[in-house]
Amino acid sequence: MLDNYIAEVLVSPEELKETIQKLGEKLTVEYQDKNPLVICILKGAIFFMTDLVRAMNCDLEVDFMDVSSYGDAFESSGQVRILKDLDQSVKDRHILIVEDIIDTGRTLAYIVELLKHRQAASVKIVTLLDKPERRVMAIEADYVGVEVPNKFVVGYGLDYKQGLRNLPYIGVLKPEMYE
Ligand code: PRP
Repeated sequence: MLDNYIAEVLVSPEELKETIQKLGEKLTVEYQDKNPLVICILKGAIFFMTDLVRAMNCDLEVDFMDVSSYGDAFESSGQVRILKDLDQSVKDRHILIVEDIIDTGRTLAYIVELLKHRQAASVKIVTLLDKPERRVMAIEADYVGVEVPNKFVVGYGLDYKQGLRNLPYIGVLKPEMYE
């Protein structure tokens, strides 16, 4: 049972649904008539992104980008590398970056700069979770679902050694799993 890995539930399936619905309503207003390119940062954000765009009642397109920052380690290495680039051009497009979590901010600092360099018309960030205690880069999301404490969070896309992404809620991993 996956629940056996979890010390506590931080965001229940019902709270996730409500949070995403509210974000979707705000983003519907923001992006009405802008046909944004919604960029999902693989792999963690894919669960959030698919639910979020279905809560956005406006024209939009989706694309995917994969970058590495953590690998299987617990700490961000400080290095960001593109593993899969976008298929579409961002030039003159309104871009909404979708993340599952902002931790140190290194991943997003790199991606935002890259997209500005590629001449996007605008770049905004929506993140399901924000862990501000861990920030080392001056980066803030335009839209935040839930602020979380500095604990090892998993589920709904967030992994522990590539597993537990399919938990239907956000939970805190039991410390004995990684100590
Ligand atoms: C996680 C998360 C963010 C990033 C946040 O991705 O999805 O992209 O780390 O960390 P930062 O703010 O310290 O840069 P990860 O590299 O673990 O890949 P994954 O989404 O494929 O699990």
